[in-house]
Amino acid sequence: MKRDRLPPWHEYKRLLNGRELLIRPIRPEDAEPLRAGFSLLRPDEVRQRFLYAIKELTPDTAARLTRPDPEREFALVAAEPLPPGEALIGAVARVAIAPGTRDAEFAILVSHFIGGMGLGRLLMLRLVRWARRKQLRRLYGDVLEHNTAMLGLAHSLGFRRETADTPGLVRVALDLEATAPHAS
Ligand SMILES: CC(C)(COP(=O)(O)OP(=O)(O)OC[C@H]1O[C@@H](n2cnc3c(N)ncnc32)[C@H](O)[C@@H]1OP(=O)(O)O)[C@@H](O)C(=O)NCCC(=O)NCCS
Repeated sequence: MKRDRLPPWHEYKRLLNGRELLIRPIRPEDAEPLRAGFSLLRPDEVRQRFLYAIKELTPDTAARLTRPDPEREFALVAAEPLPPGEALIGAVARVAIAPGTRDAEFAILVSHFIGGMGLGRLLMLRLVRWARRKQLRRLYGDVLEHNTAMLGLAHSLGFRRETADTPGLVRVALDLEATAPHAS
């Protein structure tokens, strides 16, 4: 892939440890690498992302996650710079518009192998950009109340805490119509 003419939503990111990853939209070919990578995740990471424990990513779930509905969903991965299908996936960030609204829910997982190096922030900023381009009103996500990493990240991007309907969860929401200097 030519570096000076990357397709939309593609970018290279060099991590602090020197490893280079390609940020790009998720593709159907990512289903198998996603399933393989899932087995390397810690139970706490999985629970923080899905809000409940799951032991494996079934082929059906992997197929669904890798085929976002272009009308209302968008998902980015941070992958090895190899052809889709071969590339290992280190992070996935997705957003889905709630049907009939201008609100969208996000979910993100940056695996601990590449955590703490700025990828979570970069991917969240890209989701915010997508949501703004779609002229949405609000971007929100449900976060376990002890998930200090995600709550810290959301706070630093201008998300406000709301009370979630479920005990043990905090809803964080960004008002996309207000000026948000941190989340451009
Ligand atoms: C939360 C998560 C996405 C953060 O990704 P990351 O790539 O490690 O985050 P970054 O390196 O971009 O850090 C961004 C900010 O997050 C916060 N943060 C990250 N790790 C943190 C930690 N261990 N404790 C407190 N704050 C932390 C900080 O505000 C940090 O900003 P700083 O580097 O300027 O201090 C990642 O830990 C993760 O995927 N966790 C499991 C799944 C999950 O919790 N998903 C969220 C619910 S959908």
